[in-house]
Amino acid sequence: MAYENILVEVHGKVGVVLLNRPKALNALSKGLVRELAQALDAFEADPEIGAIVLTGSDKAFAAGADIKEMSGKSYMDVYMEDFITVDWERAAGCRKPVIAAVAGYALGGGCELAMMCDFILAAENAKFGQPEITIGTIPGAGGTQRLTRFVGKSKAMEMCLTGRMMDAQEAERAGLVSRIVPVDDLKDEAIKTAGKIADLSLPLTMMAKESVNRAYETTLAEGLRFERRVFHSSFATDDQKEGMAAFVEKRQPDFKNS
Ligand code: HXC
Repeated sequence: MAYENILVEVHGKVGVVLLNRPKALNALSKGLVRELAQALDAFEADPEIGAIVLTGSDKAFAAGADIKEMSGKSYMDVYMEDFITVDWERAAGCRKPVIAAVAGYALGGGCELAMMCDFILAAENAKFGQPEITIGTIPGAGGTQRLTRFVGKSKAMEMCLTGRMMDAQEAERAGLVSRIVPVDDLKDEAIKTAGKIADLSLPLTMMAKESVNRAYETTLAEGLRFERRVFHSSFATDDQKEGMAAFVEKRQPDFKNS
């Protein structure tokens, strides 16, 4: 499929989406977000793909929703089109693991999009922020909610109230990103990490993802009960038999996604 605002690559079992509006620092226009949703749909449906990487350029993951596109909208426009829903939430709805690889700016909707992924690998030059308040609005794709869960109230509140950016080191200390890598290595490292995940059993990585995400949605007791049931159900898979047999026989497992 030919896209205008993104590039799509396949590296073995890893699907990569590169946001690609360099002149606008990958601002998330309606067209870009539509294409992103289409690309994620295609990777989700492709049985050869076991994990997905979402990335931008060295300068910007994404500098937010497209302000030029948004600036003229009325309340009724955004209400009636339910601005920031279906396509925007596609990344959060993926069942396959999705890694955000962030270099440069991840601001506003860009930070929110990264947080919709399962974890964030940051380049040394990454900058995260929710600057919406400085342009007369507030985060609209989860910034006040997901950021608070990642970094706690104090930092999230300061960022949402002042628009201050966090650098990669602060983001790692605060738990927003899983680790920091040199800018030049970011894409390769993300693909390598996604490749490791994709070499495992897809149903099992999906179960692990669903269980971790459950921690955000429920009480500890309910979450533990959910985890236990999913853990039990893993014993109904061929891949559990294969994984444990391979360990006992001191060989590499050959997972069949079954
Ligand atoms: C549209 C954008 C843009 C954006 C940058 N550009 N961010 N266009 N929407 N969000 C465009 C600029 O207009 C400019 O185009 C070109 O990209 C380069 O940007 P510069 O500002 O010249 O670059 P620089 O001086 O390096 O500054 C980088 C920056 C700054 C600090 C990231 O661009 C900036 O502050 N951007 C806006 C960040 C922001 O407020 N994001 C939140 C958006 S609201 P021209 O044509 O002039 O050369 C949001 C709401 C989310 O995300 C709600 C739910 C999704």
